[in-house]
Formats: sequence, C-alpha cells, structure tokens
Amino acid sequence: MTAPPSAPEPLSLRADTPLRGTVSVPGDKSISHRALMFGALAVGETVIDGLLEGEDVHATAAALRAMGADIVCEEAGRWRVWGVGVGGLLQPATALDMGNSGTSTRLLMGLVASHPVTATFVGDASLSARPMGRVTKPLGLMGASFATAPGGRLPLTMTGRCPAVPLRYALPVASAQVKSAVLLAGLNTPGRTVVVEREPTRDHSERMLRGFGAEITIDDTPDGRAIGVMGEAELRPQAITVPGDISSAAFLIVAALIVPGSRVTLTGVGVNPTRDGLLRVLERMGADIVRTNEREVGGEPVADLIVTASDLTGIEVPPEVAPRMIDEYPALFVAAALAHGTTTMRGLAELRVKESDRIAVMAAGLAACGVAVEELPDGLVVHGRGGDPVPGGATVAARLDHRIAMSFAVLGLRSTAAVTVDDTRPIATSFPGFVDLMRSLGAYSPE
Ligand code: S3P
Repeated sequence: MTAPPSAPEPLSLRADTPLRGTVSVPGDKSISHRALMFGALAVGETVIDGLLEGEDVHATAAALRAMGADIVCEEAGRWRVWGVGVGGLLQPATALDMGNSGTSTRLLMGLVASHPVTATFVGDASLSARPMGRVTKPLGLMGASFATAPGGRLPLTMTGRCPAVPLRYALPVASAQVKSAVLLAGLNTPGRTVVVEREPTRDHSERMLRGFGAEITIDDTPDGRAIGVMGEAELRPQAITVPGDISSAAFLIVAALIVPGSRVTLTGVGVNPTRDGLLRVLERMGADIVRTNEREVGGEPVADLIVTASDLTGIEVPPEVAPRMIDEYPALFVAAALAHGTTTMRGLAELRVKESDRIAVMAAGLAACGVAVEELPDGLVVHGRGGDPVPGGATVAARLDHRIAMSFAVLGLRSTAAVTVDDTRPIATSFPGFVDLMRSLGAYSPE
C-alpha cells in the first residue's frame, strides 16, 4: 500500500454529450473508518453495510486486526467486526501501514494513546509529509509518549498510557480528526475527556459513539461547542449502514453542473449539516440541486440529489463554511473555473496540509489548463470562464492526492483540448470505481 509497485495510470475524461443517469457513490470514508474502529472496541459482533472498500479504509481494518479485532468482508459492502472491548487492544507485532490515510493514522493514534500498547505508524510519501503534532500534543498531555521523524511526522512510534489522564482540550485548528483522536483516547480514560471546538467540524464520531452506547455530552459554551465522552466506556455492538460519501458525490455534482444539458441523480448521499457546505455554496452560485427522499440512515441524514447543469456565478465564499466542506474545495475550484465572474475562497490554510498542498497543486493545474487564478496564503481566487470551456491541453500532476486526480478528470469534461491526469491510482483510496461511474454517465476516454 505504501509504495504502489504498479506503473502510473494516466487518464483523460471527455464528454461530448450531456451526462445522464442515476447512480450511487461508495460509502462515506469518515463513517467507514469510525464504524470499523468502534466495532473493534465493542464486545460482540458489529455488522456494517455499505462500507467504503477503498485503500484508506482497508488500512484501518488491517491495523485493527493487528491489534486483535476480527474483521471479515462477508460480501461486497457487508462487513462483520468482532471487537476486543474498550481497553482490550493488543500490541501489534509489526508496524501499522497507514498508506495514504491521515484519518486512519490520527484516529488510531487516539485509540492507542490510552492502551498499554506500543505501535509504529508508517505511511506513503504524502502521509509522511503531513503534520502529526496536532494529535501528538493533546495525546501527550493525556500521557502517551512519542518518537517521531523530524517535524513530528511519520514514521512515528508511540506508547499509550493506561490509565491515561482525562483532558479538556480547545482545538487550535478546526479538525474533526484531532477532535476524534482525543475523544477516542477518552474512551479508555477514567473520568470525562472534553474537546472544545470553535467552528463545528464533522460530528460522525459523536453520533456513532452515542449509537454504540457511549455517554457523550454536547454543551454550547462561550468558547464553542464542548464535546465530552465519559471514559471506561462499554460499547455495544451495532448494525450500521454507511451513507454515500458526499465528498465523492462532489465530483459527480460538479461534473453534472458544468457539462451542458446534464441531469444526474445521486441516490443515498449523506447530507449531514456538518458536511453539506458544498451544496449550500453551489446553490448560492446558482446550481440546480434538488434534495429528495430525505431520510435518516444509521443516525445520519441522507438524501437523493438531482443535479441539473446550471449557469454558475462566482461568489465570495464565506470562510466560516470551510470546516463543513474542507475536502470539497478542489471540486469547487473546478466549478468556479467554469462560472461567470470571480470566486474568492479564503480561510483554507488547512488545505495546504491535506494529501497534497491543495491550494498550490490546484492553482498550478488550473493555470496550466488556461484558467486565471490567484493563489493566496489561505485561499484561491478563480476567474471563471463565463460559460466557455477551459482551454485545457495540459497534463497535471495528481501528487498522490485522490481529490486532485478526480478534480482534473472532471475539468477535462468541459475543456477545449483534453486534460490529462498523470496518475489516477490514488483515486482508489476513497472512490474505487470512479472512472467506470463517470463512463456510465456518458463520459469517455479518448484513444
Ligand atoms: C476527516 C476529517 C477532515 C477531512 C478528512 C477526513 C475525518 O480532516 O479532511 O478527509 O474523517 O475526520 P481534518 O479533520 O484534519 O480537517
């Protein structure tokens, strides 16, 4: 997983006709990681339907197996987990290979932090460049100890403390990964562990932990939302259905909006209000997106989305929305490139520490495709083509980043000359089947 032995797989996607069809996207990545982790900490059998079978989630499953959980794939999308109980994680015999997955790494570090376990985390070049100090700091305050590569990065060996020390921690960055790491450490810590967040970040951990029977408190305080977990919890196994991933749906939504005449229905997409910022921003830009069949699946709001090609107009995107759509900015940049007028997006410093520096990499790729952009320290200004296609004709580097690869594949649907993504292998981390799904809607790859 860490060093793909295969050769790069370049790709261009084109669309000469409208995109049409009804499709569903794979399971939500964030929810899939959490379902496996909480199942691994419950005593008994958890059944998960719709699990994302992407490389990132496989990395989580492998690590949990290495620490004693029994996890099997019964049939496509249906998984069973027999957990070890909170406090029951075992010492892994070898290093845990996290591949490309920041979520696996940071949340599993939270679990290890309050277990009497020493674990080594390794990852690919992208993950090994990402900051881990944001989790080692609070987990260190709870008693865990760390030996890291320079800059607090992977490879990293940590030893948990049992019993750990409960903590009240104000998040210095809006990060659901850091929030979740501390809450997960709190599960096996005596007393109450509290995380305070100024801006709401995705709340899947809180929702699902409640479903598993953990005592979760949520209080609005002058400093923000205080989320507490009562430690030494006993988790009860669950049956979980994972909704479709809105972060994957984002690429199909933007594709349907920018290819003239398109109309695409996406069924069963998670529309948790802590994740639906892209829908709200696109709607403000003039997008025709209808939510139907709204329902609740596994404690999460879900809807079918009917997306019709639309004339978009650039806006100033409020920075406060960033935590609710942090992974969707690359797709939004593509929508902005085809819009009328200018779209200004700020408050995105976090994008620089994702699987790649998504501001720099998107700015370079868009410019290479003939889109006028201005890179800001914490954002991007995109001057839209006003309804004309982008010139295209470039090969862009995906830089081990699945969302960069999918963004430029989508941009190529509305470009005069083809846009080639140099390597689409990273797409398998979050959206296996992306290319086939695009083809089923009418996109094609030129010979
Ligand atoms: C995730 C949280 C986000 C997001 C990532 C998944 C999660 O990261 O970018 O893809 O599952 O908690 P941050 O919390 O660091 O912003």
